[in-house]
Amino acid sequence: MSALLEKIASKQAHVVVIGIGYVGLPLVAEFARAGFRVTGLDYDDRKVSLLNSGESYIPDVPTGDLAPHVTAGRLSATRDPKVLREADAVIVCVPTPLNKTKEPDMRHIIAAAGDIAANQHEDMVIVLESTTYPGTTTELLAPKLSGARFELGKKVFLSFSPERVDPGNQVYKTKNTPKVIGGVTPACLEVAQALYSHIIDKLVPVSTTEAAEMVKLLENTFRAVNIGLVNEVAIMSRRLGIDPFEVIRAAATKPFGFMPFYPGPGLGGHCIPIDPLYLSWKLRGLQYQARFIELADTINSGMPAYVVERATDALNDQRKPMRGSKVLVYGAAYKRDVSDVRESPALTVIELLEKRGAEVAYMDPYVRSLEEEGLHLQAIDPKTKFSEYDLVIVVTDHSALDKARLLAEAPLVLDTRDALRGVPGDRKHVYGL
Ligand SMILES: NC(=O)c1ccc[n+]([C@@H]2O[C@H](COP(=O)([O-])OP(=O)(O)OC[C@H]3O[C@@H](n4cnc5c(N)ncnc54)[C@H](O)[C@@H]3O)[C@@H](O)[C@H]2O)c1
Repeated sequence: MSALLEKIASKQAHVVVIGIGYVGLPLVAEFARAGFRVTGLDYDDRKVSLLNSGESYIPDVPTGDLAPHVTAGRLSATRDPKVLREADAVIVCVPTPLNKTKEPDMRHIIAAAGDIAANQHEDMVIVLESTTYPGTTTELLAPKLSGARFELGKKVFLSFSPERVDPGNQVYKTKNTPKVIGGVTPACLEVAQALYSHIIDKLVPVSTTEAAEMVKLLENTFRAVNIGLVNEVAIMSRRLGIDPFEVIRAAATKPFGFMPFYPGPGLGGHCIPIDPLYLSWKLRGLQYQARFIELADTINSGMPAYVVERATDALNDQRKPMRGSKVLVYGAAYKRDVSDVRESPALTVIELLEKRGAEVAYMDPYVRSLEEEGLHLQAIDPKTKFSEYDLVIVVTDHSALDKARLLAEAPLVLDTRDALRGVPGDRKHVYGL
């Protein structure tokens, strides 16, 4: 252990990050910046070749944060797992999606663990960062990575540390976001802390890997449940003829005991719609039903249909049927100013509108095509006049949206994000969520 700690302290340790996507790439950049030799290991040839030429493919990581380290020979990428033979530290950032029946799909973690095990050696620290259910590190990874030769806490050091990256956040990045870490043994925790202390300002140790896994699920369940609550508040407020956004903004002036969450067209991205279901799945196996999670999932996944219901009502007020109407969906990404369309509610909104016979187009400066998502649509020119459509639905409020032009040109708007509040002009034709 002391040899490994010495290598980490002197930055001689070779760090390999498995999975160089939204989570792995910023991490690779931080370790390179701190002076470590870093290799990104990924199946994706495109990412490997871009990183090897010093180019970024993730908006939050500027190319300037990668290129100098690639030139200096400190940073590279490969798809060959044999690189793990010379790794001192291995950080696993592979995806943890759900399968078709909404159960955890652990294929990527299992494959990464298999690669590590096949190339394992003494004095290796391994950290799992992928979001997952409590017990994954000890139940799934530890048996593969320990044994007579590799005693945990003596020869091999295994920990879990959840990633908290918030794509597009201009204030909190990898370095200044406190990092929670739990080790399988106290020595495992000590080595992982020594490693991360080079790149993270504040570390938050917890007693076990299970606690660290649960921290991440609490954080994301907290958001999913609160968003579910305000989505239901939005539905209830409309029934009462009240503007839900006005209510929430006014409630948010209370300086204590209230934290504002805002309703929207549904959850998106790789985390909030998925992570809580990892927890409810795990609990089902223990004969416990995670009721808040399941209720929030029901409400949140019903929001795209609610948006289409509001859109139908708005058109109806203008004596227009949905069938045959020209509808423009503004924003395909799941949140503002990113290009990520994973789980984006815009996709479901578009599908439901098409099912009702609308002629649907979309505008999104960040998302050129939805072919890969199975929708035969290309983004229309952002300068297209909004007046060409019977209805414009604001699903994502990218900062590029010219709100004044939208308000002036569109004959009818459904603003699911309250994006047009405060924009001067007549708003008789604007509907809210
Ligand atoms: N994106 C976020 O905002 C975010 C935030 C916090 C936590 N997380 C969690 O982090 C994990 C990774 O998410 P992401 O958004 O970075 O995913 P991603 O899809 O952007 O990147 C994952 C990468 O892993 C690669 N990969 C998969 N299996 C591999 C294997 N066995 N060997 C080598 N490469 C492999 C893929 O090719 C891909 O490039 C997930 O568990 C996610 O829940 C994501």
